[in-house]
Amino acid sequence: MKKTPILLFALGLCLGVNASAQKFPGLALTPPMGWNSWNTFAANINEALIKETADAMIANGMRDAGYIYIVIDDCWESKQRDAKGNLVPDPVKFPNGLKAVGDYLHSKGFKFGIHSCAGAKTCAGFPGGQGHEYQDALSYASWGIDFLKYDWCDHGTADARETYKIMRDALYTAGRPVVFSLCEWGSNKPWEWAADVGHMWRTTGDIYDSYDGRKGWESGWKRNLDLQYTLVESNGPDGIGKYAGPGHWNDPDMLEVGNDGLTFGESRAHFSLWCIVAAPLIAGNDVRHMKPEYRDMMTNKDVLAIDQDALGKQGFRALAEPGNSIEIWVKELSNGEWAVCALNTSMTVADLTVHWNRLWTIQGLFQVTDVWAKKSVGDTSKPLTARVDSHDVLLCRLTPVKK
Ligand code: GLA
Repeated sequence: MKKTPILLFALGLCLGVNASAQKFPGLALTPPMGWNSWNTFAANINEALIKETADAMIANGMRDAGYIYIVIDDCWESKQRDAKGNLVPDPVKFPNGLKAVGDYLHSKGFKFGIHSCAGAKTCAGFPGGQGHEYQDALSYASWGIDFLKYDWCDHGTADARETYKIMRDALYTAGRPVVFSLCEWGSNKPWEWAADVGHMWRTTGDIYDSYDGRKGWESGWKRNLDLQYTLVESNGPDGIGKYAGPGHWNDPDMLEVGNDGLTFGESRAHFSLWCIVAAPLIAGNDVRHMKPEYRDMMTNKDVLAIDQDALGKQGFRALAEPGNSIEIWVKELSNGEWAVCALNTSMTVADLTVHWNRLWTIQGLFQVTDVWAKKSVGDTSKPLTARVDSHDVLLCRLTPVKK
């Protein structure tokens, strides 16, 4: 009996700690969508680019299609903090400061994102957040930041989980709701521990505009996609997908759709498969100068609906037959529907056949719609054959036939 007050106190302490230490709830219930400066512009960023990007995304329909977060990546800072230790935006790139940028974005219906790093320096050598987390979170709140991408360069011996939790708590304490995007490249298996730390976490190294090429630290999108499935084989048929869901997403990195290193088909396959794995859709192209076919691709409502489906289930690879140049990825949707995406893995155009009865997770009879072609292509009672370009996809939506 004597122990009861102590136990209660300890319990209260635990509850108290848990209540104050949390990520912002209710954000990113579907995978976040937006644009980020890094893939195309790297250090060549400034206020004009960000405003022009916002204007272009209004004019081309991207904002209204859901691309809401405009994120300034690395290289926005001055090389030194000020005398009080505050982060200082580069006065040449951002002469009016970042609040002015945030005000502009908010007035146009966007949300404002920024990049920093959990280590002492960002990957490009600008001040990182280490030891300044609470101070930086207050700066972010004062600038109207709604999304923080937090990198992992120069972290020394720091423990990833503990380090990202410090920033989570700092953001929460600052009081402005922020989508917290962990960018530690999957090095410490964040899918196993980050659901109560952030809203999304990178699962791979950096992407570049290639199908399956390698360039040092960077990989083509197909390798990043494969890592969603194969990172931890023991996790079962859906790989790391079971760790994703509303409010907490695996992030195989930003989109290279529309960038020069990909053919149209490769961009379309990349986009389709990012939707299948419920990835955040963060555009990485120059949206001010977009060919109409890429604009149409990225704003296609039927394709986006697959990514944004409220069930929030990450898709997985259901079948791979290198001999037949085919991989089939599937995603369970709300209301008993499914998305099925057949990828032509060969270097040439090919006739791909989908044998529905070999996709063992999908049971029953379904009507099939070719999503990109916007047409009905029969039902799942017989196989579907379609001509598909090299590294392009056939993307279908399956709707149950009511008995
Ligand atoms: C890391 C990240 C990239 C980008 C750069 C910026 O490499 O993974 O996405 O933010 O840093 O330096």
